[in-house]
Formats: sequence, C-alpha cells, structure tokens
Amino acid sequence: MVVAALTFLAERAGAERPPDGELPVPSMFSPVSVPADMIRELSLLVIGVAAGIFLAVAGVLVWCILRYRAKPGDDREPPQVYGSNQIELAWTIVPVLIVLVLFLATARTINDIEASEPPPGAVKVTIVGHQWWWEIRYPELGVVTANELHIPVSTDDARRPTYLTLESADVIHSFWVPQLAGKTDVIPNRSNRMWMEPRESGIFVGQCAEYCGTQHAKMLLRVIVHEPGGFERWVEAQRAPAVEDASVAAGRTVFQQTACINCHTLGGTVADGTFGPDLTHLMSRATIGAGAATNTRENLRAWLENPDHFKPGVRMPAMKLGDEQLDQLTAYLLTLK
Ligand code: CUA
Repeated sequence: MVVAALTFLAERAGAERPPDGELPVPSMFSPVSVPADMIRELSLLVIGVAAGIFLAVAGVLVWCILRYRAKPGDDREPPQVYGSNQIELAWTIVPVLIVLVLFLATARTINDIEASEPPPGAVKVTIVGHQWWWEIRYPELGVVTANELHIPVSTDDARRPTYLTLESADVIHSFWVPQLAGKTDVIPNRSNRMWMEPRESGIFVGQCAEYCGTQHAKMLLRVIVHEPGGFERWVEAQRAPAVEDASVAAGRTVFQQTACINCHTLGGTVADGTFGPDLTHLMSRATIGAGAATNTRENLRAWLENPDHFKPGVRMPAMKLGDEQLDQLTAYLLTLK
C-alpha cells in the first residue's frame, strides 16, 4: 500500500509538469546519487521489517480465526485464561528490540549523510525558496539562475558532489529531488545544509514538498546533471553578458520602462530587483513560472500578458501591456540566451 501511495503521488507530481519528453518519474526507489542510495537502503530495511511484522500478526490472526471458529453443535464456553508472564514479556521485549534496531540503523544513515564534508572540487550552491520559485546562486562562480539547478556528474576519477545551503525568503518550503537526496526543509532565518552526488547525468525532477501557499503545487524544480566538462561550459555561458541585439531595442525599452525592473535582475540593463527570478539568461531555461509552462514564444507571451493564466495567484502582476508592446517585449526576452 505504501508503494502504491508513493507511485500515485509520483504520478500526480508528473501530471503537473508540462509534457516535455521522457523525464524520469521522481521516485526515491530509483536513486542515482550517493545520499539517495543510502536512504533507499534504509527504507528497504524499514519496509522489510514492517512487512515481516504485518505478515506475522496477520498470519496468527487468520490462523486463530480459522482454528478456533465456532463449530456446529458446540456451544461450550472456551477456556478463560488470565495473565501470562511469558507472553507479556515477549510482546514487550520483542517490539523494543525491533524499534532499537530501526533506531540505530536510521541514526547511522542520518549521521553518515550529515557528517559528510565537502571534498576539494565540490560545487557550492545557495538555494533560496520563494513563493513560488527557487532562486539558485553559485557564490563562488558568480552565477545566478532560477528553478533549474545545473550540477556536474560525479565519477570515481573525479568526485564532484554538490553542497547546498538552503534559505527561505518568506515561508517554510521543502527542497526535494527524490532521486538525488533526501528532503530538507527550507526555513526562514535559518540555513540548512544538504548535498547530492549524482552518478548519472540527465534531468531529474523535484518539487517543493512543504505546503507554502496557493501555488505550492507549481513550485517545481529540475536538476540538470552534466557530463564531465558540460557543467563548466554551462557556467561559462551563464557568466557571459546578456546579448545586445539592436533588432529588439524596442522590447528592451518596454522592459526598462515597466515595473519589471523592480523585481527582476537583467545583466546589462537598469533592472536589479531580486524579488523575482534573474532573467539575464532566461532562454537557457526549459520552463517558466517554476515549471508552470514550457519556455516557448507562445507561452512566454501569454505569461507576460497574464501570469495568472498559468499560475493563478502568482506574485507577478499582469502589466496591462498592449499587443504591440507584448510582441516587442517577447521578442526581446527571446534573445536572452
Ligand atoms: Cu514552496 Cu511548497
């Protein structure tokens, strides 16, 4: 039943995402990262012990029901037994031992994961939870992005784990990419730590796992695990200045004269807000609105016209732009590779 419920939740989480190819189902039972492997092993032990207890209890119950059921013509009172020191000791000591084993195994896994210190070559990332998107900062690399976390794959030759510092700009969120690491809450005025060490490249999906307001369900994130060398190329592209394209000057003017600049940062313009995602390399991201829609021309224009269309209750207001301004602004944003 537990597995069925987890599968149901995983499928529902998948249903919220835009249909963009073959993203893996975010199941903690198919880990591709060191801490996620450790958590899966522990969960199998716990499920195994719980299944054993269930079978023993249900088996004895069924046996008693069948063996001692009323027989036709036998209406005698069964023997009445009061108290048994042996049985009472057994049903006290055995559960205590089982709980002790589960406690020790869990404490060991938690300690092994939490005691891990970043080796040289580790990538350091600060994640800030917002209603309802993820701010992603690489303080040592000078890169800021949103909703799509890029990290390197870790190999036996070159260990490249990623260490995350989790912070919140408003309420409690929870950062969870089931295939890469355990779930960690993101709490205002507190820095939490976690790490992931993927052994496979690819795209892995996660989402906010703590109810944080209207659009909690559309606070999705994806982790792009790069092949060796790919992460460095991505960082280089992110550090490059935004493209200056004369053909979209009208759109840049619309952007700079609208309230966009109060909430967003866009390198090379006057925009330096931090309330919303950094837009400098907007088109390097596959989705907009923290996974609410795929990042296409049509969706981008519809988003600018009315963000509520994809994400009712979203903090970004509709700017009441006319058709021509919307076209110009969309054309400008499309150049932000
Ligand atoms: Cu953020 Cu739920």
